[in-house]
Amino acid sequence: MVPSSSSLSSPIVYALTLFVSLSFLLLFAPQILPLGKHRQVPISAQDELDDLHLFREAITAASSRGGSSKVSHLGTINPKPKIAFLFLTNSDLVFAPLWERFFESNDGLFNVYIHADPSTKLNPLQWSIKANFIASRRTARASPTLISAARRLLANAIIDDPFNLYFALVSQHCIPLHSFKYVYTSLLGNPSSATKAFLTPRSHQSYIEILSDAPYLHNRYVARGDGMMVPEIPYDEFRVGSQFFVLAKRHALLVLKERKLWKKFKLPCLDLESCYPEEHYFPTLLSMEDPKGSSHYTLTRVNWTDSVDGHPHTYHSLEISPELIHTLRESNSSYSYFFARKFSPDCLKPLMGIAKDVIFRD
Ligand SMILES: *[C@@H]1O[C@H](CO)[C@@H](O)[C@H](O)[C@H]1NC(C)=O
Ligand SMILES: *[C@@H]1O[C@H](CO)[C@@H](O)[C@H](O)[C@H]1NC(C)=O
Repeated sequence: MVPSSSSLSSPIVYALTLFVSLSFLLLFAPQILPLGKHRQVPISAQDELDDLHLFREAITAASSRGGSSKVSHLGTINPKPKIAFLFLTNSDLVFAPLWERFFESNDGLFNVYIHADPSTKLNPLQWSIKANFIASRRTARASPTLISAARRLLANAIIDDPFNLYFALVSQHCIPLHSFKYVYTSLLGNPSSATKAFLTPRSHQSYIEILSDAPYLHNRYVARGDGMMVPEIPYDEFRVGSQFFVLAKRHALLVLKERKLWKKFKLPCLDLESCYPEEHYFPTLLSMEDPKGSSHYTLTRVNWTDSVDGHPHTYHSLEISPELIHTLRESNSSYSYFFARKFSPDCLKPLMGIAKDVIFRD
């Protein structure tokens, strides 16, 4: 923003702004731009304290408002349970128009929260859904900042609306593979009778991939140095899974209360090539604390064939077809996939073209 009170000062202000932006870019370019290898982003003690404060607020809010004892009271205004969609992004939300169609005419059944890395330029015109932009901090791969960002999203969603019962974490490269109604009904049942979901929160399952075996798992375990994870996390309890998940509220709260594993996962990696804390923290935690409460598979389809540098296959516009959508939905688990990643921005147009007749037709 350039606040210019008079037209005379504008050129100077612009020149200054340009100068400041350029210096900023030169100073921080290595961290902001994906140049070469992973960079470490430290979490300051103050950020850590702010997060702790936020998480406590969420836990307090949930315990003072939640619980089935409040249901009869809630029943008087006939609330519906909601799904909180948590967008974790470090670039513009190019698929916003597609998500908008996904959410269309489902008001009252969802909320949207966005954690955008502070360096992100978001185009507000693309997004007409009421979204909550939460206070965000820098995020980077190969650092625990992505875990913190996901936890901040969970905390904000819990504080904001007690009717959020499920929390779906997605990125700017994710797209929906089904209609909102399909996703909602699968998780919470028919909206007209979904109020009873408030009575059964303890039976809600989380959908998160949890694997005990994967290539290079041991390298990832010792990425912070030999013996660094014990005694909190023995190797045979260390898990891996996809970064994106759908958590039930009880597990979202578990994640916010957690301190023990975080103490280890927040440590910087020595081996940056094997450093993916966000792919281990959530699966390991849920596997240790409530293995039966999670599906162990994800609802977000990813294509790891020919992955490069830890990035999955990125779909481009020429690959988009109704057949692709149908193929991506196919799953060996109890639900077909709800979402998929990763898609490049040029996919928006062909995806919009098949939205109504293919993607949102279940
Ligand atoms: C996964 O990606 C590979 C290329 O990396 C591609 O050949 C294959 O068709 C993709 N699979 C699906 C199901 O899209
Ligand atoms: C389902 O399982 C079969 C057999 O193990 C496998 O070939 C196929 O790739 C799986 N499909 C998906 C979508 O995971």
